[in-house]
Amino acid sequence: MNGVTADNITEVVNERLERCTNPRLKQLLTSLTRHLHDFAREVKLTEPELMDAIAFLTETGQKCDEHRQEFILLSDVLGMTMLTVALGQQDREGATEASVLGPFYVQDAAPHDHGEDLAHGASGVPCFVEGRIRGENGTPLAGAVVDVWHCDDAGFYDVQYAGGSSACRGRLHADDEGRFHYRTVRPVAYPIPTDGPVGRLLSATGRHPWRPAHMHFLVQAPGHATLVTQVFDKFDPYIDSDAVFGVRPSLIGEFVPHESEEFYRGEKIGEPFYTLSVDLVLSADHQKR
Ligand code: BEZ
Ligand code: FE
Repeated sequence: MNGVTADNITEVVNERLERCTNPRLKQLLTSLTRHLHDFAREVKLTEPELMDAIAFLTETGQKCDEHRQEFILLSDVLGMTMLTVALGQQDREGATEASVLGPFYVQDAAPHDHGEDLAHGASGVPCFVEGRIRGENGTPLAGAVVDVWHCDDAGFYDVQYAGGSSACRGRLHADDEGRFHYRTVRPVAYPIPTDGPVGRLLSATGRHPWRPAHMHFLVQAPGHATLVTQVFDKFDPYIDSDAVFGVRPSLIGEFVPHESEEFYRGEKIGEPFYTLSVDLVLSADHQKR
């Protein structure tokens, strides 16, 4: 019998996958074992450190419930979510870059007509958004379904309040020119949840929990890969240090300020407001991974 040593244990573990008939699972586990073992060797991991890590992951799991997914948050702050999103997009040249979905997406958001107010009474400075959805060849994607969601001026999403409103959220259908527009309030920067182990990890490592102000978009059109993305406020102080690494230069938009006496689409708004334009490009389905 050959003994297991610190040098050969990686091979020994991976030889046990011999009878694994799922090739992708085998590839994932072989590589994961190799990288984990190399990590332990590189940092000379101690048993107490391994136990601390296990306690941390246990607490991460215990923090999860139907409203809270602490493991995704952990993946987000370690850059794993954004890395995976970016890898999935490598063959979608020409399409709008994707970003993280985040925990506040709600399926089947209420449908809205163009021009309607998605804020539904949420507090904040009025913001008028105009968007255009196209395929990579520039064709307008008429009828594309656009889900929009973002936080109010206190930095909270509707689902974070008791009472189940649907503020700052809605679904629109692009018109024949692939365009859509709506009224809402301007989102602000907000911190990701810090009352769990991920929050402790951030403070233990001197990191802040803030995300720069952004609007989320999820766009679906027949024959095209679904686009999950965000548009960020160019002048936000956290634009270069997003806690979850979701910002891409191409996703930086401009919330243009307007005075109260200015008009928007022929209407006097009567208070200061912002406008934002977004241009979203979907890749054809054949490129779907
Ligand atoms: C969000 O943008 O909604 C979000 C993304 C990742 C973690 C927390 C929030
Ligand atoms: Fe968000």
